[in-house]
Amino acid sequence: MKSSGNKVKIAVFISGRGSNLKNLIKFSKKNNLFKIKLVISNKRDAKGLISAKRNKINTKIYYFKEKSKDEKKILNILIKDKIEIICLAGFMKILSKNFIKKFNGKIINIHPSLLPKYKGLNTHSRSLDNNDKYSGCTVHFVNSKLDSGKIILQKKVKILQNDTSKTLQKRVLKQEHKIYPEALRIILN
Ligand code: GRF
Repeated sequence: MKSSGNKVKIAVFISGRGSNLKNLIKFSKKNNLFKIKLVISNKRDAKGLISAKRNKINTKIYYFKEKSKDEKKILNILIKDKIEIICLAGFMKILSKNFIKKFNGKIINIHPSLLPKYKGLNTHSRSLDNNDKYSGCTVHFVNSKLDSGKIILQKKVKILQNDTSKTLQKRVLKQEHKIYPEALRIILN
């Protein structure tokens, strides 16, 4: 998948904090693998936009109120910028089947559970409610079904006796920051 001689051009889609984005930016600077060319957010106040701007990465906001119109505009920019891979990182909108088809096999996502367990939201409280021994995180390809595409990489995190969703979330996030760049390395090499 690596473009000849050049770094692979990536767009990251976010909605909030952007710690995964920040971590991917850091990784991209230390490696010759990829370059983050564009950050797309559906929220103007997403904290992650600050890291993008600090690193002089182009940012665009689309509210997804008229999803198909916004997706068309996004596709045009992605084509113009020659984006090869889209990384979803805490992006809270569901992309249409049509959009996913256009970027088939080139959209990946990070999810805070050991998929196929706990697709969707509130993964940490659900695993605590079920008295699971382990939680974790997964990087997977995006297909038209929510959190269901082929798994690239997973990391288990042991649930401790006194864990709350907050403490568990923190430990899982640390692992997310390890496996997201690693998953990119796997698919780009
Ligand atoms: C992460 O837990 C990720 O797995 C989930 O949303 C959260 C985003 O966090 N999809 P951040 O915005 O990258 O800090």
